[in-house]
Formats: sequence, structure tokens, C-alpha cells
Amino acid sequence: MSKQIQIPRGTQDILPGETEKWQYIENKAREICEKYQYKEIRTPIFEHTELFSRGVGDTTDIVQKEMYSFTDRGGREVTLRPEGTASTVRSFVGNKMFGLATQPVKLYYMGPMFRYERPQAGRFRQFVQFGIEALGSNDPAIDAEVISLAMAIYQELGLKKLKLVINSLGDKESRKAHRDALIAHFQPRIGEFCSDCQNRLEKNPMRILDCKADRDHELMKSAPSIIDFLNEESSEYFTKVKKYLTDIGIEFEEDPNLVRGLDYYNHTAFEIMSDAEGFGAITTLCGGGRYNGLVEEIGGPETPGIGFALSIERLLAALDAEGVELPVVNKIDCYLVSLGENAKDYTVGLLHQLRSAGFSAERDYLDRKIKTQFKAADRYQAKYVAVLGDDELADNKIALKSMDDGGQVELPLDSFLEKFKELIK
Ligand code: HAM
Repeated sequence: MSKQIQIPRGTQDILPGETEKWQYIENKAREICEKYQYKEIRTPIFEHTELFSRGVGDTTDIVQKEMYSFTDRGGREVTLRPEGTASTVRSFVGNKMFGLATQPVKLYYMGPMFRYERPQAGRFRQFVQFGIEALGSNDPAIDAEVISLAMAIYQELGLKKLKLVINSLGDKESRKAHRDALIAHFQPRIGEFCSDCQNRLEKNPMRILDCKADRDHELMKSAPSIIDFLNEESSEYFTKVKKYLTDIGIEFEEDPNLVRGLDYYNHTAFEIMSDAEGFGAITTLCGGGRYNGLVEEIGGPETPGIGFALSIERLLAALDAEGVELPVVNKIDCYLVSLGENAKDYTVGLLHQLRSAGFSAERDYLDRKIKTQFKAADRYQAKYVAVLGDDELADNKIALKSMDDGGQVELPLDSFLEKFKELIK
């Protein structure tokens, strides 16, 4: 035998038994998007690298350390998407969605994202994000809507131990004032910080607050808070967002240190965490915020935007931590057990008829003994087992057993399908 090939670090196979849970979550997310009127967008898995360096931001960890970038055979610099917002905005601009009759443009996406991070519980190199983006509205009510959609997904799946944390990063003017204060605060002792932070000081000092290496430095705790630098307009905007959240019964905590790891944010920023005991070290389930300015950065007209993304991997971990079982059903309608060569041949057609009529059905393919066929029916959690022997076949009969109540009936073989339809109704 040749040497086995291992799965790449930070990736996982999702196998039958698990995939049903994924499908259940995906369906729930789609259902909720339908209620809120977000429409699906599908963008490529790879993009020009420049999209992310411009969109996500040159000073972010994602762009500096985590991208799967390569030169393609045509000499183009391309990158496996690390997130979905930049691609969505690129498509919004390229397809002139700002000119659509229906505004704001409300989109959702679901698919794999790639980040070269150190793998650990809840952190993968390939993970699946579900995300939404609302483009074209500056109404704080849409901020509340975006947050409430994220909460609805978790709550409708049965999660209870959730914590919503929000902050405002303010508008350009507020950020500029905060930026100056941060530089003044860190500059005298920047030598005590990591080289990343030293580089960030001039380029993007807010990024320092998000540094994993210098998290515990004393200057972090005393750093000037953005909340103190919000101008009137930004402050009013934030107040409205909080009012709307309260109006719709969504509890939140304010955290002036929540800055998020991507550069495009302003005004509302939020994260949803799991409060469940035993949930790993990484408790953030979902993150998002407003990004007025990004559409222009990507070459479109001035357009406000807000959205969030969550990973299905962390959502599943939160469900596990809270002991929530998703109601995934794996039952089949009918298992065909056969005894004898002719009966076995006959079940090929019968199985096809059942499936064509819309039923989930299965039969034996391994020449198993009748007892083992019944065991297989159990494993498939068959609602009914139809038993056909050569003798019954000759007599135009088939036995049908309900696995729910054990009741058994004998049916004429040539009208089996009609009778089965009536029974299962
Ligand atoms: P983000 O905070 O980088 O934001 O990621 C959002 C979510 O993706 C995280 O809260 C987490 O659930 C999940 N996630 C991120 N990295 C990993 C990983 N390595 N393994 C597993 N899950 C992960 C964004 O991506 C923004 N595009 C969100 C957004 C949309 N903002 C506005 N619109």
C-alpha cells in the first residue's frame, strides 16, 4: 500500500452524520435571510490580491500574515478569500448594484474562507462563513436589523448563552482625533511593544489595541477610548442604534475597547460571544460593523455599508458547549428486504418506483441474510420495511411492517405504491 496522504493542517473533512447538521444550519440561515429580505450572492473563491490589501487593510493581521496568496500561471497575484466583505463590495461596484431599483442592497453569502492562522479549537485555516452586507443605507435602524439577524440565527438554533458587545468607532473626524490621542499615548514607550505595533503606530495606531502579543501591557488599559472622541453626529448615531436594539428587545454590553481586526470599520462595531461554560478560549462567534467608505475605496460611488460574518464551525462548537441537539432527521421512508433471487431482482424496480414517487428508500446490495437486512433497516431508521420473498412474489403479495408500532399488513404487490402512499400520508 502506498503512503497515506494527510489532510492539510487547519482543515477538516465534514462527514455524513455531521453534514446533516451543516445543512440544517445553512437552511435555517437561508430561511431567516428570506424573512429579512437578504438575497444570496456567490463570488469567486479567489480574487486579485489587491482587493484585500486595499479592502481589508494593509496593516491588518489578515493581510500581513494570513493570506493564501500566489502568482497564477499568467503572472497575476491572486489570493484565496480570507473574508467575504471585500468581494461583495467588489461585486457591488462591478455590477453597478448602486443603480438597482431596490435599495438598500441586502446580500448574504455562505462559503469557505482561508486564513493562514495557527490552528486551535475554533480556529481553522479553511472555515465556512455565513455573512450579510447591507449597502446603501445610513439609517441606524439597519444597524439594528443586521445585529438582530445575527442574533436570530443563534437563537432560532437554540443557543441561549450569548453576549452581544457593541462599540462605536465613530466617523472620520472622530477617528482622526482618537488616532492623534493614541499616537501621543503610545509614542513615548513604543519601544516596549512588539515590532508589529511599532509599525502600526503611525500607520494605524488603533490596530495596537487589537494586538495579541501586547495585550497585557499597562498602556493598553489606560489607552484613550474612542467613546471620548466621538463627535456629536457619531455619538447621536450610536445612541440611535442602541435605542433601536433596546426597542426590539436585544440586550447588549458596550465595550469601548472593541476595535475589530479589519480596517474598514467605522461607527457601529459588534461581536457576539458565547458565554457557555467550557467553550474554548476563543469565544467570539460573530463579528461585524459599519464600513462607510469601503465602496469608494474599491472604486465605487460613496455608499454606506454594514454587515457581519460568523463561522459555522464556531456556531457548531457553541451548540456543543450548550448541549443543544439540532433536530436533524435521518429517517428513510422504506427499506426493502428481499428473500430469494427473483424477489431480489424485483426490488430493483420497486425501489426505483418508490424513489420516483418521492420517497426515500433503500435496499440491500451485499447479498445479506434476512436478519442482517432487518438490522440495516434499523440503521437507516426506516419508517417501514417491505418484505418480499420469492413465494410472495409468485402470489402478488408483499408484507409491509411499520417500524414505529410494529403493525404489519399484507398488500397486493401490483398496487403496493398506491397503498404505501395512502399509509404514509
Ligand atoms: P472577522 O471578525 O474577521 O470579520 O470574522 C468573522 C467571523 O468569522 C468570526 O467571528 C469567526 O466566527 C469567524 N472566523 C474568523 N476566522 C476564523 C477561523 N480562522 N476559524 C474559524 N472561524 C473564523 C470578517 O470576516 C468581516 N468580513 C465581517 C463583516 C462583514 N464585517 C462587515 N461585514
